[in-house]
Amino acid sequence: MSDKTLRFDRLEPLREQVDAWRAGGDRIVLVPTMGALHSGHLALVAHAKAIGQRAIVSIFVNPTQFGPNEDFSRYPRDTETDLALLAQAGADAAWLPSVETMYPTGFSTRIEPGPAAEGLCGTVRPGHFSGVATVVTKLINQVRPDIALFGEKDFQQLQVIRSVVRDLDMAVTIEGVPTLREADGLALSSRNRYLDPRERAIAPRLHAVLAEMAERLGRGAEAAPLIAEGTTALETAGFGPVQYLEVRDAQTLAPVVRAEREARVLVAAYLGATRLIDNVAVVPA
Ligand code: PAF
Repeated sequence: MSDKTLRFDRLEPLREQVDAWRAGGDRIVLVPTMGALHSGHLALVAHAKAIGQRAIVSIFVNPTQFGPNEDFSRYPRDTETDLALLAQAGADAAWLPSVETMYPTGFSTRIEPGPAAEGLCGTVRPGHFSGVATVVTKLINQVRPDIALFGEKDFQQLQVIRSVVRDLDMAVTIEGVPTLREADGLALSSRNRYLDPRERAIAPRLHAVLAEMAERLGRGAEAAPLIAEGTTALETAGFGPVQYLEVRDAQTLAPVVRAEREARVLVAAYLGATRLIDNVAVVPA
């Protein structure tokens, strides 16, 4: 475990450090985050240290992936706590670029991802995946890691990033890491801290509904009636609006009628003012 996490807010020294580590034979693993770190992020850092010698965590609340009515301004920011957590977790470096570093005056390029970004969050958050693809491409170009880790909780994001990296011949391996959950099933998320006690008590229903759907889909049930039932179950529990509840192919994200190969049940739903997303794997029996 590192007793110190180096802190960089300028690109040049970060690159010098990464180059020195690489020259010494170290494998560099990047964990991109927007801060407000929780145990899910720290598990990514632990995984980074297990598969490489140097774990670099970027913290940047990326304005271009938030819509005009989304929670960019209230998104939780607590850099000093994040840095203390990263030191405990043994991260080697934190990359903390400013908005000016990421998007200087005159910045004018955006990446438009293809079909993986269509539907699901791509429909209800127009422009979101373009913002994600652009910032992740920049972060990878800045840090030049061997491997970059992303949580499977943002499953569509993971598939979008995989497609961008493949299409643009980026020299990095993208690895998805399974979602970490609370004991009651709620997926860890920086946005969980928005939930009041009543909402927090309801929130695990999201995973419970997905898990039941995934189990029945795995046994050959048709998707459409399960989606209708699942939506009603969520609304009855207190979620609303349910932005989407869908069954998609795990590789292509194409809609699935019956799961004949690995699929995912994916959901985005509001609980009060908080938007929660989650997904569960469907493994055909
Ligand atoms: O998943 C996130 O936290 C963000 O979308 C990411 C990948 C750090 C890009 O801003």
